[in-house]
Amino acid sequence: MRAVILVGGYGTRLRPLTLSRPKPLVEFANKPMLLHQIEALVATNVTEVILAVSYRAEEMERDLSEEVKRLGVRLIFSHEPEPLGTAGPLALVHDLLSSGDEPFFVLNSDIICDFPFMQLLDFHKNHGREGTIIVTKVEEPSKYGVVVYGDDGKIEDFVEKPQEFISNKINAGMYIFNPSILKRIELKPTSIEKEIFPHMARDGELYAMELTGFWMDVGQPKDFLKGMSMYLTSLRQKSPEKLYSGPGVVGNVLIDETAKIGKDCRIGPNVTIGPGVVLSDGCCIKRSTILKAAVIKEHAWLDGCIVGWRSVVGRWVRMEGTTVLGEDVIVKDELYINGGQVLPHKNISSSVPEPQIIM
Ligand code: GDD
Ligand code: MG
Repeated sequence: MRAVILVGGYGTRLRPLTLSRPKPLVEFANKPMLLHQIEALVATNVTEVILAVSYRAEEMERDLSEEVKRLGVRLIFSHEPEPLGTAGPLALVHDLLSSGDEPFFVLNSDIICDFPFMQLLDFHKNHGREGTIIVTKVEEPSKYGVVVYGDDGKIEDFVEKPQEFISNKINAGMYIFNPSILKRIELKPTSIEKEIFPHMARDGELYAMELTGFWMDVGQPKDFLKGMSMYLTSLRQKSPEKLYSGPGVVGNVLIDETAKIGKDCRIGPNVTIGPGVVLSDGCCIKRSTILKAAVIKEHAWLDGCIVGWRSVVGRWVRMEGTTVLGEDVIVKDELYINGGQVLPHKNISSSVPEPQIIM
């Protein structure tokens, strides 16, 4: 089987991290977002993954090639001359997707859950129509594509980012389609959510399968951290041996084996520590992601933060309020940062008491 992953778009809501790496390559729980998805696809017997890329394709090819060899999956890069939206990329690989006449998966690249691809395939074959989308329930539906459907799953209406409340069931960003969908899509920038799904719904060709378990679009910092906590909770149930335990560790914590942990640290709950990270003595970290090769100095205190690659957080620093440090940022000793979004390669030498972007 084949799958298309939509990896275009600029990822602006995940800045400053996406100033250094394309969103799908930002590590979520110590693994590029995209790899979580590719691994789940491979487990569902997908042998060909098409990455629909609109920019920074070379970086993706370079960063993924080795991992993909390990997984034994064929990766095909489909470069868009201009961003084609969420449907246009399917038209670009029309010939590939229609060969073989079997259904294919399509995924947004910034979502995390226990990907139920096998179940999706079964559900889809069962109703026999053109497409199935996975839906989930959320508290703030206006940020998403909202779906209205009957007890049999047949979708009556699909409204992208509605202004008024229609339902709290939303498009989770994972689909399976028969190749016949390609007849509906022209080779030009097109939104699948706004321009294709409403028509399929009208024709009675689009079904909804409800997701069980956690789900999050991790394309912005707050949701990234929420999704990280959910993912770790699920990991606790499925493979608790992957979580870290040791002195000072509280709750669910994932630590790369090459990270160095000092004495008397308090880590957790809900923390991921990437490869080569150094946590110095006495630091305290809750609900945060520390990316590769960052250094947290003695007695720093972090809650609700993402620390970018190779950044250095000084002694006795206190950071909270969804602070995000880009790549290679230095925060001097003893500062307080609340909700700062710090651009790559900056040196911070005074406190930031209110949320702001620091350029
Ligand atoms: N190849 C390509 N080209 N990919 C693109 C382009 C493009 O021009 N524009 C966006 N994408 C990719 C993004 O990388 C992402 O994986 C996916 O398409 C969706 O784009 P987002 O920018 O993340 O959309 P969203 O989060 O506002 O809304 C989408 O996801 C929600 C679930 O998280 C919609 O599909 C909603 O209906 C859905 O509820
Ligand atoms: Mg998104």
